[in-house]
Amino acid sequence: MNKYLLILGQSSALARQELAAVLSSSNGQIELTGTNFAVISANQTPQELINILGGTIKVGQYIQTIKNLSDLNTSLWYDILKNNLKPTSKNCFGFSLYNDSNNNYQNIKKVAFQLKKILREKKYKSRLVTGQEAVLSSVIVAKNKLLDHELLIIKNHEEYLLGITRTVQDFVSYGFRDMARPYRDNRSGMLPPKVARMLVNLAGYDTNKSLLDPFCGSGTILQEAMLLGYKKIYGSDISSQAVEETKQNLDWLSKNFALKADLKIKVIDVKNIDQNFETNSIDLIVSEPFMGDARFISQQRSSHNLLTIQKDLQNLYQTAFEKFQKILSPAGQIIFIFPVFNIAGQDIYTLDKKNISRLGFDYQLKEDIIYSREDQKVKRQITVWKFK
Ligand SMILES: C[S@@+](CC[C@H](N)C(=O)[O-])C[C@H]1O[C@@H](n2cnc3c(N)ncnc32)[C@H](O)[C@@H]1O
Repeated sequence: MNKYLLILGQSSALARQELAAVLSSSNGQIELTGTNFAVISANQTPQELINILGGTIKVGQYIQTIKNLSDLNTSLWYDILKNNLKPTSKNCFGFSLYNDSNNNYQNIKKVAFQLKKILREKKYKSRLVTGQEAVLSSVIVAKNKLLDHELLIIKNHEEYLLGITRTVQDFVSYGFRDMARPYRDNRSGMLPPKVARMLVNLAGYDTNKSLLDPFCGSGTILQEAMLLGYKKIYGSDISSQAVEETKQNLDWLSKNFALKADLKIKVIDVKNIDQNFETNSIDLIVSEPFMGDARFISQQRSSHNLLTIQKDLQNLYQTAFEKFQKILSPAGQIIFIFPVFNIAGQDIYTLDKKNISRLGFDYQLKEDIIYSREDQKVKRQITVWKFK
């Protein structure tokens, strides 16, 4: 097993659960986590991990834990780097300090400059890459060729974890498939591909399973499932336009990423989903459902109308879960988003755990996950369900 130090992205609660689910499918495990990092043991290579995980932005080799930052001196740093130094070409190196003070950042920078001097004495050409902040972004790491040369320093309580970056998230590919696909919903608040991928991964990583999104919209979840390697992919939506968009997006994806899957995308009202799929035939249902008219919701100043919307949506979700109960396989899982509206600082939830549980489902999360970005009126509560 390899021991890695992972840096998690902004929605770290979601990223942590994604990681735990993916690792549990391959006998790996999380040894330690903080808000924005995890130490794990895993069988995969760093590249294999980053290719799967949507919520992890850097994968580093774990090196050691030090008690004091002053233990990080030039000789330790040199030892960490030495196997990857090139004798003839320029060696870019840098570091990222997480969860610590600017003062300590400045102190490490001084050590880094001393190291540069030592490298020169040892006849290595080098360049120290520093950014505006204590943390170098994945973009800076990739563009400055810092893979194997960026030291990760993470303050965890009174200790410091050290690692060396092996790979970073492929931000170019994420941006490309988000922006360049034929149909994309330009309304603010659309589901980013990274989040769609994390939803799929909350089920663990077993691409032999069949996967259905019964509110597929323009197909973001199905797209990420296909990229992950799922082969039995089903999508449906009440809108024929949405179905057409999904088909075109997946067709575009297949061509651009050379992928093949058994795709079935159809117009279906979720209320009739059980008439379109055989009993017990679906292993995973992963969906961001209809969440109400976003523009109407954002204009509401009182909770009165929102409570009506809440009731209507709860009825729709309840019906959906009644139908899911029929088509889901006995060991199947449901990953489902329930919107949360905010009015005058108060959160209005659409998830009623008791009602869903009465249908025979068990809520799987130990820690609730709410995903939102600052400007959003509607937050997303991400849930995972299995049969009791
Ligand atoms: C929030 S969008 C899903 C967006 C999708 N996650 C994506 O990335 O494109 C919700 C979708 O639910 C569909 N919808 C609304 N009511 C439905 C119903 N009763 N049955 C099936 N689909 C429905 C809408 O047409 C819409 O495309």
